[in-house]
Amino acid sequence: MTDISNLLSRFSADFNARLDNFFPLSDNPENRVIEAMKYSVTNGGKRLRPFLVCTLARLFGLDFEASLRPAVALECLHSYSLIHDDLPAMDNDDLRRGKPTCHKAFDEATAILAGDGLLTYAFEILSSPATHADAAIRSELCLLLAEAAGAFNGMVSGQMLDLYMETHQKAGSEEIIRRIEEMKTGRLIRYACEAGAVLGRAAPDQRQALISYARGIGVAFQIADDILDVEGSPELVGKTLQKDSAQGKVTFVSLFGLETARQMAGDYIAGAKRALSIFPAGEEIEILQNLADFIINRRY
Ligand code: IPE
Ligand code: IPE
Ligand code: MG
Ligand code: MG
Ligand code: MG
Repeated sequence: MTDISNLLSRFSADFNARLDNFFPLSDNPENRVIEAMKYSVTNGGKRLRPFLVCTLARLFGLDFEASLRPAVALECLHSYSLIHDDLPAMDNDDLRRGKPTCHKAFDEATAILAGDGLLTYAFEILSSPATHADAAIRSELCLLLAEAAGAFNGMVSGQMLDLYMETHQKAGSEEIIRRIEEMKTGRLIRYACEAGAVLGRAAPDQRQALISYARGIGVAFQIADDILDVEGSPELVGKTLQKDSAQGKVTFVSLFGLETARQMAGDYIAGAKRALSIFPAGEEIEILQNLADFIINRRY
């Protein structure tokens, strides 16, 4: 069985080696915002989303170079969502990826701007001709990312609902919680899979299967995050834990308890793996199957 931890760390090494070039620094005082952007993106992280983009692209015969820029764009957007998620007005976190959060390492205003900068930069990277020779592919990559990240059933709506439930309601229903998880976390994970499919010009049935896979692993990924918040090791996770219940977050764990949440995550993962059955067996499919298991068994 493929060892996903090893694969992820080898991938991260290659990916990280290429990131510096995306953040050229100068001596101008306004450079501070680029330093904050670079600090937040290059500062560790599992690189799960870029790994998915590149693995899916490889499923369709594309190499690392052909998928690197969309993978970097997505990691920029994800890192922006983390910077803003950690702000005092949102989850108020001091630790991210084992280091001080952006607003702690810099200051709040710089962190807000660094988030804005990364969000915008993601689209600058995607829309550049260096990303793909075909303008229709670039445009589709931009549209899908805007939809995934935005306020109409995207990451921003998920974050809004997460905060709304925290302050306006004490309990949640399974349906509400699934919507939160699907939007705040699931949509960017789904984008990772769709971007690979777009780059590889996947057939409609293949793309649909990959979306089903992504939806399953997306919700399971957030359930695992919520479980780690309760019983993870702070050193491995690199975040301050046991905050969700203190902040009144509504999660699968708060509604059903740890054991049922774990079982539900397992069911989502089983569904995700079934969705891959339309593909013939092969190295990338085996990686995607094992990645699905890793998502719920991970300790970080
Ligand atoms: C953290 O995402 C935020 C969630 C959506 C749960 P990751 O767990 O992928 O964070 P990094 O990128 O590895 O730091
Ligand atoms: C954050 O969910 C999801 C996004 C950043 C979009 P959480 O608030 O649970 O993520 P962590 O636990 O701070 O990483
Ligand atoms: Mg949050
Ligand atoms: Mg948070
Ligand atoms: Mg969390």
